[in-house]
Amino acid sequence: MKGDFRVKIKAVAGNITEVKADAIVLPIAEETGSLGGDLAAVDRALGGVVSQLIGQGEIKGKPNEITLIHTLGKLPSDRVVIVGLGKPAELSLDKIRGAIAEACRLLRGKGIASIATTFGIAKIPVAAMTQAITEGALLGLYTFRRHITKPAEHGEISQLIVVGTEAILPELEQGIDSGRVLAEATNLARDMANEPANYMTPTLMAETAARLAEDYGLELNVLEQKQMEELGMGALIGVAKGSRQPPKFIILRYPGGDSDKIDVALVGKGVTFDAGGISIKPSAKMEEMKGDMAGGAAVMAAMAAIARFKPQINVMAAIPATENLPDGSAIKPGDVLTAMNGKTIEIISTDAEGRLILADALSYVKGLGARRIIDVATLTGACVIALGNVCSGVMGNHQELLDWVIKAGDEAGELIWQMPMYEQYKELNKSEVADIKNIGGRYAGTITAAQFLDEFVGDTPWAHLDIAGTSLSDKERGYLIKGATGVAVRTLVNLVLTLASKKV
Ligand code: BES
Ligand code: MN
Ligand code: ZN
Repeated sequence: MKGDFRVKIKAVAGNITEVKADAIVLPIAEETGSLGGDLAAVDRALGGVVSQLIGQGEIKGKPNEITLIHTLGKLPSDRVVIVGLGKPAELSLDKIRGAIAEACRLLRGKGIASIATTFGIAKIPVAAMTQAITEGALLGLYTFRRHITKPAEHGEISQLIVVGTEAILPELEQGIDSGRVLAEATNLARDMANEPANYMTPTLMAETAARLAEDYGLELNVLEQKQMEELGMGALIGVAKGSRQPPKFIILRYPGGDSDKIDVALVGKGVTFDAGGISIKPSAKMEEMKGDMAGGAAVMAAMAAIARFKPQINVMAAIPATENLPDGSAIKPGDVLTAMNGKTIEIISTDAEGRLILADALSYVKGLGARRIIDVATLTGACVIALGNVCSGVMGNHQELLDWVIKAGDEAGELIWQMPMYEQYKELNKSEVADIKNIGGRYAGTITAAQFLDEFVGDTPWAHLDIAGTSLSDKERGYLIKGATGVAVRTLVNLVLTLASKKV
């Protein structure tokens, strides 16, 4: 997978006090009475400096607390970094991802190239722990410097060694392998969403899909405008009218199952730039709208990871890709468009374009008989107001599927909160001149957008993830970097792996 550098991660049998690296990273929990095995051994080798720092209150084990100690030749490694994990009762895999990420970035900033670590924590299985360490390191060290000609001030971490006993080597290796696939896919989605809109047009998005298809053995089909017209995708074509860039309807297939049914259809919003169209957005922060294809990127990247995991299930991805720009030929408020399923839509705001292109994509995968549909979209500013950047919103028509999505997110550390779909909200989308209008007013904007989408899935089990608040991070925070987060990639992959293992 494309990346500016590659951290080598390997499992090694032995003892952390005997490993030679530029730095060893060890965790410490808050309010621990005595030091655990590895930390105790390091403490002894260093003449009790760790216990002393704990006694003096410098090391408390609080979340994201980092203490750097130089070993001055008392250990084969030059430095020991002790990372706080917080209270044992509140420990989660996500805290581990975050702690490792912070430690890796700190050490990278100091010009360090090799790190060794070991994270034995009784209640967490070794493979899951190692996967979290791998994800944390690879996600936390992510940078997007493709358009910066000046070299970075920091070097790169070239090697991460995960130390354990001989007996657990296979689990360490399994954790490293899974973590790498998930983190690389997430970083791919970040790359796509961070890319300026002039480097990630619908055409270039389709070219990225072609590269993924080639690299991972996915089947690719890209529908051009003419085919969209033949299929009656009037909503997607309507949005594309304001743009000189031709729209693309990107279809990727992973045929891992033995039936000819599509077990899961993943649909991702691919608006490569959202200026709002004729209902133009204010210019403040408009540049962030280059990331309005983050849902599509997440779906594409998830397909790459799914192809690497090879589960026995048939997955299809559909990404309607277009720009949303104002132009003499752009759609206007008051226009009426006809979607692929025949429903007519009155345009009130051309800035509510995501639901328009998704309407046709949902109709398309529903028409192919997909057994269940998950869509991912940076759909509403209202979702950012409601949930901030802490969690994504989820809505749908099938509680069991929604529960699976939420659980898959939880495993990934991607928090998801369900919002209600009471039918009263549907009223707000009623139009006087068409079957439905494309905005439901100021109230409950995230829900009325979901109720709009509901018109295009019929009774196919469906879940809709609104990632408008979570797709971008305004600062470095744990394993998140300022910019695109790649949110939903790991949730989608976990979900597909779960569905495949349950054979449902
Ligand atoms: N892409 C935006 C939603 C968005 C807003 C994503 C902020 C990320 C951050 C979407 O196309 C949009 O413009 N939605 C409008 C809908 C409104 C016109 C009903 C919005 O939320 O303002
Ligand atoms: Mn918009
Ligand atoms: Zn948009």
